[in-house]
Amino acid sequence: MSDNNLTIAIVGATGAVGAVALDLLADRAYPAERIITMASSRSAGKKIPYLDTELIVIEATPDSFEGVDVAFISASADVSRALAPEAVKRGALVIDDGSAFRMDPDVPLVVPEVNGADLEWHKGIVSIPNCTTTPLAMSLAALGQANSVKRVTVATYQAVSGTGAAAVRELDEQAGDLLAGRPVNPREYPHQIAFNVLPQVDDFAEDGYTGEEHKMINETRKILHNAEIAISPTCVRVPVPVTHSESVQVEFDAPMSRDEATRLLSEFPGITVVDDPQASVYPMPAQASGEDEVFVGRIRKDASHPNGLALWIACDNLRKGAALNALQIMDEAVRRGCIKPSR
Ligand SMILES: NC(=O)c1ccc[n+]([C@@H]2O[C@H](COP(=O)([O-])OP(=O)(O)OC[C@H]3O[C@@H](n4cnc5c(N)ncnc54)[C@H](OP(=O)(O)O)[C@@H]3O)[C@@H](O)[C@H]2O)c1
Repeated sequence: MSDNNLTIAIVGATGAVGAVALDLLADRAYPAERIITMASSRSAGKKIPYLDTELIVIEATPDSFEGVDVAFISASADVSRALAPEAVKRGALVIDDGSAFRMDPDVPLVVPEVNGADLEWHKGIVSIPNCTTTPLAMSLAALGQANSVKRVTVATYQAVSGTGAAAVRELDEQAGDLLAGRPVNPREYPHQIAFNVLPQVDDFAEDGYTGEEHKMINETRKILHNAEIAISPTCVRVPVPVTHSESVQVEFDAPMSRDEATRLLSEFPGITVVDDPQASVYPMPAQASGEDEVFVGRIRKDASHPNGLALWIACDNLRKGAALNALQIMDEAVRRGCIKPSR
């Protein structure tokens, strides 16, 4: 449980991640008077229901961070670049959801269950990983305790909420339009997303991988403190509202049995194994959405390599993939004495 004396700013409170952060704070009955909701000038004055009251959104400006102990920034990389240093200057710990600082060597990139100790060297800003990286890093950390990981291939099945609240509305609209026989007009993606699958998340780089795929490679290595792991991702957008899924093949330096993998994953904090394929029991977005856990199933020996293992992951991208991980970073920072209330 976090320290309820901390004054918290939620920058991006009107967005997909910000809304879940407020839900999670409400679940903890975090006092409304300790929460400052911020967004762009467009949303200033907007009221957000919270417990038995309402929070009024203010425009995020440098001065709005006066008196803030912890600033969660869930807006865009540009907003983070502009506002995070201002919040730090005013004494806040910034926990940033975006990509702006993730690969900065002065910024810890943290999944508390994996590398919480990295919080000890923060200089004011802590980043959370991309929502596809977090569940992969947790699964590899669990398995890597017994057997070092050499190589990973992963295909993602990413929900539209990973793009933000506007993409969720667009999926709804497109599905309605297509079912009614009306044409669709893609805005958030280069193609229609309803009843479709897009093998593109983010822009393509010269090497043929996308920005999202590079994030998975670089961030996983940084979190695991292992620059040697070979990782080849293919990131795919699917018409699912919430929860990213991943099909993962891991190659170790020695064989690992299904039983050992199941035990390691089951014992790892934050992971729940859901794996009874004969009964058609495995992780799915419809079951994982709204849950805090990383769900892993379809655990099996990889038929293509003697040291290989295959598995399937599902994780709510807005909770453990974003807002929950951010709140857990605050809890871990409090526990380690890396943050103290300013008043
Ligand atoms: N969605 C995910 O699954 C996920 C997972 C991990 C990390 N992230 C990261 O989290 C961040 C937010 O994502 P999201 O999905 O919540 O996006 P979103 O639904 O599009 O929400 C964006 C939020 O940013 C606010 N904003 C825009 N311009 C601003 C400004 N100049 N100053 C202050 N606030 C501003 C918006 O406020 P207005 O309503 O006023 O425009 C809105 O509240 C992104 O950096 C994303 O990469 C997202």
